[in-house]
Amino acid sequence: MPCLPPKLRYERDNGTFFGRERELEWIHKSFVDRHIIAIYGLGGIGKTRLAVEYIYAYERDYNAIFWATADTKDSITLSFVAMAQQLLDCEPRILAESTLNLGTFTSMARRRNLTDHHGSILTNETDRVVSAVISWLSDSAENWLLVLDNADDLDSVDLRSFFPTAASRRILITSRDPKSRHLGIGLETQALPEDAAVQLLLQNAGKEGEGKSIRISSWMSF
Ligand SMILES: Nc1ncnc2c1ncn2[C@@H]1O[C@H](COP(=O)(O)OP(=O)(O)O)[C@@H](O)[C@H]1O
Ligand SMILES: [Mg+2]
Repeated sequence: MPCLPPKLRYERDNGTFFGRERELEWIHKSFVDRHIIAIYGLGGIGKTRLAVEYIYAYERDYNAIFWATADTKDSITLSFVAMAQQLLDCEPRILAESTLNLGTFTSMARRRNLTDHHGSILTNETDRVVSAVISWLSDSAENWLLVLDNADDLDSVDLRSFFPTAASRRILITSRDPKSRHLGIGLETQALPEDAAVQLLLQNAGKEGEGKSIRISSWMSF
């Protein structure tokens, strides 16, 4: 089991996942020799869910998986601070599973005075914590995956400044902005095929009644 962010457990409780087998396979194959993939498409089409399901389908390929909400600079910064705590909490396990290491995050955080006396990450040192996370990921030979979710506003958020440089890096972006494909390679997310869309409609209708299913059917552009 890789080191996973806790939020994902919750995201997956959102009902059964339908379709998207080809997209999952495409992401998996593309990550063999590509480092950055941008899933782009309309709001609500299923980009974030696809990223979550990719993680659950292929988590065994990674020692550690990180998730950052990238809609604003503040949210991405807060996510990186949470990633620092995640690294402290599960680094002992990542290290046990791996032989290639260039130094631990825990010792780096102590050296840079980024932890309090309980050993927790200081939340008022955001810029220095973000730099520490980026530099650890850049120097790491671990198989890690970083998801930058909802990176919709590429004009205001300099996403590249959050990219670690490691040779082994795998970065999965979700964005409404088609320009995101220029950050790596792009996967345009289309509406679900009809059979999967119908299954999703039935699931949501069963859960929440008629009104909601009518709204969803217009959203799915039937
Ligand atoms: N293939 C799918 N099967 C089941 N539910 C889905 C699927 N794709 C999306 N959803 C659900 O639809 C909603 C919107 O999807 P989301 O991934 O948040 O869209 P986006 O990130 O493109 O804005 C979420 O509740 C998600 O769980
Ligand atoms: Mg999304």
